[in-house]
Amino acid sequence: MTTDSDVKVGREVLTFPPDFLWGAATAAFQIEGSTTVDGRGASIWDTFAATPGKVLAGDTGDPACDHYNRYQSDVDLMASLGLAAYRFSVAWPRIQPTGSGAVEERGLAFYDRLVDSLLEKDIQPLVTLYHWDLPQVLEDFGGWRNRDTAYRFADYAAIVHDRLGDRVQAWTTLNEPWVSAFLGYGNGIHAPGITDAVASLEAAHHLLLAHGLATQALRAQAPESHRLSIVLNFSTVWGDDEEAVRKVDGLQNRILLDPICGRGYPLDVLQDTTWLGDWTNVVRDGDMETIATPIDWIGVNYYSPTRVVPADPDHVPFGPHAGLRGAAIAPPQGELTGFGWEQNADAFTELLLRLSRDTNGIPLVVTENGSAFPDVVDPMGRVVDVERTKYLVDHVRAVHRAISEGADVRGYLAWSLLDNFEWAAGYSQRFGIVHVDYETQRRTVKESAVTLSRIIGQNGLPA
Ligand code: NOJ
Repeated sequence: MTTDSDVKVGREVLTFPPDFLWGAATAAFQIEGSTTVDGRGASIWDTFAATPGKVLAGDTGDPACDHYNRYQSDVDLMASLGLAAYRFSVAWPRIQPTGSGAVEERGLAFYDRLVDSLLEKDIQPLVTLYHWDLPQVLEDFGGWRNRDTAYRFADYAAIVHDRLGDRVQAWTTLNEPWVSAFLGYGNGIHAPGITDAVASLEAAHHLLLAHGLATQALRAQAPESHRLSIVLNFSTVWGDDEEAVRKVDGLQNRILLDPICGRGYPLDVLQDTTWLGDWTNVVRDGDMETIATPIDWIGVNYYSPTRVVPADPDHVPFGPHAGLRGAAIAPPQGELTGFGWEQNADAFTELLLRLSRDTNGIPLVVTENGSAFPDVVDPMGRVVDVERTKYLVDHVRAVHRAISEGADVRGYLAWSLLDNFEWAAGYSQRFGIVHVDYETQRRTVKESAVTLSRIIGQNGLPA
């Protein structure tokens, strides 16, 4: 919507499509706290955070943002910002404390209340079924290395969908399975902290299988609906050496996207990993078809580009790029966020255009985009987060550019609504558009939130 003042000063306005979805995102373990109440079981992140040396400063998931108790006032806050959508995740260990079998009614009731509160304020809920908090009991049986976990996930997904599916119109099976597989089982910087390259590729396959099985289970419950998705993390890979770019892009982006889009694993890249041992023996007949079960949209999490350089063929990086020979990750360039991540909105436009070509026309939703800086509440009680605001505006413009060049992008959700538990970095990195004082649990709306609110109100922004 163009405002009168924009027209008067002759400012060009970038307007988004009329039903473009604006909002913010969070995840259960990062904000809820209350990790031992109402029958919740332990998750791998509870165990990991309780292990000395795994999370910065020994931070844990308690009390986080105490959202489990404060959800109503947090929803009021979202409404005051004019958010039209809110993406959150359901904690599997609240629903099935041991990962299978018995269902904990108090856990389901919490998300029931949350969904109703959102709908009362006209905020559309987007539910993520798995944002990394695997029930610990399942990990004790091998976690994502064990094929059975995929079937347990599909059961759990059906339980939640059965309860909330009458009111929730947008569902995501997994958030960033790449991170679960390669940081969880590859370089071990995330829970469960395993460092085994073969295990990371096996976990990746079982995560994809879990996605496919859950998609089928949800589709069976609501055959006519068009609301199922997966959320993947993507990065635009840049470098002068085409081979190095191809390899890193293969292991970073194509490894999960290609199977989901029915193209199978990018074997041109994965053949480089055969020296690891034969991880492909976990792939059974019919798996690739299950994984390619049609979905209705793809969630895009984007933060920064990846720069690569050629490397000695004997250079064997371990972890996220396990098995990759001949390419190495180069340092970021230009302006960095407080977390040291490169800020580059052009890479975002390029990514969205590339994805819209590579995903068989499936609509895209930006399910996460944001930046961490060390914000402080000033003596006036404000948080003037100039750098985050600039990052936000630059990246929203980048989305607009991608749409005007043909990308089918349906929404933009800022990461994150609240400062929260940033995994291995604990509470040291603030990604929120709302500041959280962890001592008092006071929320302070940052300048970036005011800016997002204005963008939403106008369904656009000045060029
Ligand atoms: C992606 C993850 O989904 C989210 O949990 C995390 O906090 C952000 N990236 C920032 O690292």
